[in-house]
Amino acid sequence: MRRLEGKRAVITGSARGIGLAFAKAYVAEGARVVLLDIDGKAAEAAAASIGPEASARQLDVTKVAEIDRVVAEIAAEGPIDILVNNAALFDMAPVNEVEEASYERLFAVNVKGPLFMMRAVSRHMIERGQGGKIVNMASQAGRRGEALVTVYCATKAAMISLTQSAGLALIKHGINVNAIAPGVVDGEHWDGVDALFARYENRPLGEKKRLVAAEVPFGRMGTAEDLAGMAIFLASKEADYIVAQTYNVDGGNWMS
Ligand SMILES: NC(=O)c1ccc[n+]([C@@H]2O[C@H](COP(=O)([O-])OP(=O)(O)OC[C@H]3O[C@@H](n4cnc5c(N)ncnc54)[C@H](O)[C@@H]3O)[C@@H](O)[C@H]2O)c1
Repeated sequence: MRRLEGKRAVITGSARGIGLAFAKAYVAEGARVVLLDIDGKAAEAAAASIGPEASARQLDVTKVAEIDRVVAEIAAEGPIDILVNNAALFDMAPVNEVEEASYERLFAVNVKGPLFMMRAVSRHMIERGQGGKIVNMASQAGRRGEALVTVYCATKAAMISLTQSAGLALIKHGINVNAIAPGVVDGEHWDGVDALFARYENRPLGEKKRLVAAEVPFGRMGTAEDLAGMAIFLASKEADYIVAQTYNVDGGNWMS
């Protein structure tokens, strides 16, 4: 028996990277998946690459009215059992250089988006009365501030807090809300992080990646696939008794 047989999942920011890896892993475990991304064309291509169990819709998670409309449309086609709040943006600046636009954008995508996705999907799950699973993507960046990563770290600390409050509020409806805190995961996201570190720390491109990889106790950066086991587990029945937690999946970087 596959662990997500018969379940239907919605994953934000799943046109590429970790969200796409989760979509593939969920389908392999028997789920149907709706891929949501601000880049609708990329989401369509990603869904097509997975097969008939995957479909796609364009959604900008910063637009609350759009969230409510798209979630209602998806729910009208069938029940939603699992939500993964994965979409996020990264930016870098020390506190004395933070730009208001960067603050507004990161908090809109990384905090407001997941909050109102949880509101819309939990309303549907409560109305349906069969519980559900919500998996939020936090980060080791939410465990401790970083001198150059002021706003992103704050958004990921907020994600851990949202997971706690939502987890406590929703468990009485049989809805488990938990989070994953990855460490450093190779891919397009970290290519962008590396380029920003190159600028702020005056390094050649690729050097920061090599340094952070060498510091991971496991001995390398993570891959999106390294996180998939936890994402499946938290979406499965095996996680029924797990409430409001954030799990580090980071090769040993962080302990909490
Ligand atoms: N890559 C890492 O090292 C790492 C580490 C810790 C945590 N995380 C977290 O894991 C999650 C996935 O990271 P990733 O590396 O796959 O990132 P990524 O940048 O590769 O993918 C993010 C996806 O989100 C989409 N997106 C951006 N803004 C959106 C919006 N407004 N509405 C809908 N979709 C939007 C993008 O189009 C993209 O497809 C994020 O929450 C990230 O903060 C990543």
